[in-house]
Amino acid sequence: MSGNVVIEQPSVSDGAAMWRLARDSGSLDLNPPYTYLLCCHQFHDTSIVARFDGEVVGFLTGFREQRSPETVFFWQLAVDDSQRGTGLARTMVDTLTTRVAEQGARYITLSVTPDNHASNALFRSLAERWNVQLTTSWLFEKDVFPSETTHEPEQHFRIGPFPGHRRDGRHAPRHGTIPTAAQRRTMYGPHIGGSPTGDRTE
Ligand SMILES: CC(C)(COP(=O)(O)OP(=O)(O)OC[C@H]1O[C@@H](n2cnc3c(N)ncnc32)[C@H](O)[C@@H]1OP(=O)(O)O)[C@@H](O)C(=O)NCCC(=O)NCCS
Repeated sequence: MSGNVVIEQPSVSDGAAMWRLARDSGSLDLNPPYTYLLCCHQFHDTSIVARFDGEVVGFLTGFREQRSPETVFFWQLAVDDSQRGTGLARTMVDTLTTRVAEQGARYITLSVTPDNHASNALFRSLAERWNVQLTTSWLFEKDVFPSETTHEPEQHFRIGPFPGHRRDGRHAPRHGTIPTAAQRRTMYGPHIGGSPTGDRTE
């Protein structure tokens, strides 16, 4: 695929496309369309979209934790099938991490099911690339979900502390310009498998 990927803050007009990406992702819990509109409207500074030739092909939503404003919770992440395996999720995660660290965030948290190998690998490598700690625990055990549904337990990742407010990018991993899909393949290479998870600090 040729063309350029642009990564930027979402606007409300992106909400419908984000809902479609979540619907088609194959593994995300699909929220009502209103939720994606709300993320664009209320969590604009802690969310990001990736556009390929103007079309939304990826998004990452997040918000500041109420009990810990220095922590940004990454909520949902999806990349369109056409762009998977090219480093786009990693680029979005690094771009948003850099941005929220510049805004004063010290920690990124998220939840992931143990069977999501791609997501596990992605966030473990975030901690490695930034040379910060990854602490894992359980956020929601299986039994707190409605018994009428089947849902895997959600493991909690806490990553950080990220370096303080620096706009010169000195502490950030290399990401500055957003590479094309072909460049990302060259930069990041093919996938390797995901890592096992456990309750520990790494
Ligand atoms: C998870 C997802 C966002 C990854 O997007 P992507 O652009 O293909 O990911 P990238 O190419 O940037 O790869 C990022 C990392 O994930 C790993 N990865 C990606 N797909 C993988 C797979 N199928 N199996 C194992 N690891 C995988 C890569 O090896 C890479 O790890 P590295 O940084 O150590 O090299 C995408 O597969 C997706 O949208 N899945 C459905 C929704 C979802 O599961 N979201 C996450 C919920 S928390």
